[in-house]
Amino acid sequence: MTEGVDHSKRRMLIAATTAAGGVAAAGAAVPFVLSLMPSERAKAAGAPVEVDISAIQPGSMISIEWQGKPVWIVRRTPEMLEMLGKHNDALVDPGSTMPQQPEYCNNATRSIKPEVLVVLGVCTHLGCSPTFRPEVSPVDLGANWAGGWFCPCHGSRFDLAARVFKGVPAPTNLIIPPHKYLSETRLLVGDDSQNPSSVPDRKLSENYQLNGDASKGAAV
Ligand code: FES
Repeated sequence: MTEGVDHSKRRMLIAATTAAGGVAAAGAAVPFVLSLMPSERAKAAGAPVEVDISAIQPGSMISIEWQGKPVWIVRRTPEMLEMLGKHNDALVDPGSTMPQQPEYCNNATRSIKPEVLVVLGVCTHLGCSPTFRPEVSPVDLGANWAGGWFCPCHGSRFDLAARVFKGVPAPTNLIIPPHKYLSETRLLVGDDSQNPSSVPDRKLSENYQLNGDASKGAAV
């Protein structure tokens, strides 16, 4: 294990499974990476979650559970990253001016490393979990769709940096949770305490803007 890793029992290692490769398939299945027994899960509720991201294929996503909520980890392709700068006019907050991410993710890709996005999978409208739709121009989402997430509850749309589009019910971009790299292939979700550019979790929690049922999508 790399330096800086806390090996306490409260941190549970979750091994990433093979990520879904269905970039071309609408509604591609997303592996939900979970290996904790219920009692262990209860102990782990609220604890940071360590994730092996080495098996996530380019263009694919895995989902883990942190604090009872889904957290998505996407390995974006160069093509996906290139798309991000092409629809700023259609976004509510293209520059991430609202405090929906830690300081170290307040950049064009909303991530520490451009290719890896870590995002809370909870819609900022009423707390549904949107569907990963990485394909370009699918029939049901239209010719302008360049990949992202679609929330089937009320139709909110988010791009591949989890930024919300104008004209949908969700008011803000999806939340980027605190996280940090333990190594090239291991992430710790829920703890950024050793990240020199991080902001305190409490400040982040106070500032997050998330509407709806707090039990479904409370700020972290
Ligand atoms: S909960 Fe997602 S659009 Fe309403």
